[in-house]
Amino acid sequence: MSLTLDSRQRAMLKEMGVKVWSRVVPVQAPGERAARTVRTTPTADTSAMVVQPRVAGAETMDWAALQQAVADCRACALCNGRKHTVFGMGGLEPPNAGRPPVANWLIVGEAPGDQEDLSGLPFVGPAGQLLDSMLKAMGLDRKRGAAVGDGQAAQGSYIANVLKCRPPSNRNPEGEEVAQCAPYLRRQIELLQPRIILAMGRFAAQALLHDSVPDVHSLPLGKLRGQVHSYRGIPVVVTYHPAYLLRALGDKAKAWADLCLAMQRFSDP
Ligand code: URA
Repeated sequence: MSLTLDSRQRAMLKEMGVKVWSRVVPVQAPGERAARTVRTTPTADTSAMVVQPRVAGAETMDWAALQQAVADCRACALCNGRKHTVFGMGGLEPPNAGRPPVANWLIVGEAPGDQEDLSGLPFVGPAGQLLDSMLKAMGLDRKRGAAVGDGQAAQGSYIANVLKCRPPSNRNPEGEEVAQCAPYLRRQIELLQPRIILAMGRFAAQALLHDSVPDVHSLPLGKLRGQVHSYRGIPVVVTYHPAYLLRALGDKAKAWADLCLAMQRFSDP
């Protein structure tokens, strides 16, 4: 694939900042319409609140059932503080209702922040603006899900997170939260069958590569970049999280190199 940049991509890279060289809670039983009201104390620590077991049967759910399971999820304490779950967005309209969107690219982030919690959509805050610029620089567009470049084959992109609920104060995801949420991302990937996955940040890389890179939890992100990994046979390219790039402007050029690697792998499998 030629990585020659057209004027639009150059503009997007400029926008990206890349220089172009050259406890007791309401408990809802399945099928129960309204949550039972259980007395709680106003100062209750949400981490101690009662939750329900990890979702069962995600591996056989269709897209609509999976969305509903995420919306109803109470498998970790994050459910107590959320306004919305954030399932994901993007891709091209599926041919039939109930089918997953069509997405050649899957972008995996970490977890919703405040604005995502409010809107129920991934990457709508400042990091999301940078992600949009990165996607546009690659000829992708998550809002329409279709390629915006001239003459490019449709390359729908879907954006999802490791966690579907916001951790309080935007803290890092905890191991148990990641484990409880894991069946959702796994099933999303099974249903979407993307041709390539872009893992943004440490938590996305760890969630996707723990089976294939044994020491992934101890490796710095920089050591995971620059090569094409595999998640159940799907190529995975690791790059920096856009929120990090907003603070570390000097690493944007490295992120662009990662995107180039992903584009190369996508078009030259
Ligand atoms: N950061 C993420 O990793 N995901 C979002 O959806 C928003 C910010």
